[in-house]
Amino acid sequence: MKISVCIGSSCHLRGSYDIIQRLKELVARDHLEDQVELSAAFCLGQCTHGCTIRIDEEIITGVTADNIEGILTKALAEGA
Ligand code: FES
Repeated sequence: MKISVCIGSSCHLRGSYDIIQRLKELVARDHLEDQVELSAAFCLGQCTHGCTIRIDEEIITGVTADNIEGILTKALAEGA
């Protein structure tokens, strides 16, 4: 599963760096290194709804450092 976190200026201002840090913590904590590939992306075209991430081909908006764990858990459960 590939997760790209938008680091465009709008998402950056809304805390995408914190989301990346949180994702790294979760991947390490749950030993997901073989399942999750993290990367950064430039603007995903949803600036007004950021932070924005992409999980494989799915765009998810409104992401925060607080709700990313639930989003990750759901994506893993769905086998995304
Ligand atoms: S800056 Fe993140 S969607 Fe545009």
